Amino acid sequence: MSRSTSIEINLSAIDANLRSLKKSAGSQKLIAVVKANAYGHGAARVATHIEDTVDAFAVAFTEEAVELRESGIAAPVLVLEGPHTPSELSLSSKLDLWPVLHQAEQLEWCTKLDNPLKHAWIKVDTGMHRLGFPPSQLADVKQCLGEAQIQNMTIMSHLASAESPESDITQGQIRQWNSHCADLCDTASLHNSAATRHGITGRSHWVRVGYALYGGRIGNDPLDSELLPAMQLSSRVLAVRHVKRGEAVGYGARWVAEKDSKIATIPVGYGDGYPWAAADGTPVVVSGQVVPLAGRVSMDMITVDVTDIDTVEPGAPVVLWGDAPRVDEVAAHSGTIGYELMTRLTGRVPKHYVSS
Ligand SMILES: Cc1ncc(COP(=O)(O)O)c(C=O)c1O
Repeated sequence: MSRSTSIEINLSAIDANLRSLKKSAGSQKLIAVVKANAYGHGAARVATHIEDTVDAFAVAFTEEAVELRESGIAAPVLVLEGPHTPSELSLSSKLDLWPVLHQAEQLEWCTKLDNPLKHAWIKVDTGMHRLGFPPSQLADVKQCLGEAQIQNMTIMSHLASAESPESDITQGQIRQWNSHCADLCDTASLHNSAATRHGITGRSHWVRVGYALYGGRIGNDPLDSELLPAMQLSSRVLAVRHVKRGEAVGYGARWVAEKDSKIATIPVGYGDGYPWAAADGTPVVVSGQVVPLAGRVSMDMITVDVTDIDTVEPGAPVVLWGDAPRVDEVAAHSGTIGYELMTRLTGRVPKHYVSS
């Protein structure tokens, strides 16, 4: 028996997005960001599929890197939060991971390692103020890592508003990067998806791309049509009912019929990761037609107004997000971002992989 609500991951879409991102990255090498279970797409499966076409992977923390190694991934794995403890740093050395070092205590752990790291990444805080050494400390950091016998070092930073290349914050970060940071090591890395698409300037040899790899939309992307959504969340209509003008649908009676209406109930809810905050009017595609969400999202079900579709019966196909509507549209109606919707689908939704 298979549940009618399911996630389909199209690996060919990821391949196409990679080709497009490589074009934008120019001569830079490409790190595929597969943290948070590859943004909900399945880290081991996605990484195995693209290992031969990317230069490295990035995850958030050491356990995620271990999962990749246990799945047979031999490519370099960058650990963006770096080690949380000395034993995680030892594991980085043992598994040949690339830890990001961003604070003093991690440097001290490096000096005590039995086997020096082969490659460390130094994170500098150019203005996002989340992680990283201040630019003024970089020379000392590099010297300390040299004393810890680390031969290869890459300097990196992260942009807070890369989707707005002309904003004061982005321009300020780039100024910091270019004048005080980018030349510290032989190699440097600055660009996430948005910076890669917008061709933000600044010395960089490695792009670190996540959202665009999965077909998420980057604001004002000049090559927007080349990015294909790799994830489709779909279902089938469970029940259809008629409500009279003035009757309410769902919890809290939020949606009230303005005329006699037809309502389809679909077995997907916030218990699956469909956003509880989705507003009335959030687009849902039923039998190929866009119709509005009508009523509050329940744990296991949503209700949509299908009055404008002549024939809707139980079993009719439903797309919650995919090619249409895009996850970004659903997110915009829900006060969130597509990144959150992709990453918070729950384990009770079965996932299937296709290559088309
Ligand atoms: C340090 C760092 N680099 C790169 C990325 C990838 O960003 P995006 O998914 O926007 O490409 C992230 C994502 O959160 C990040 O934290």
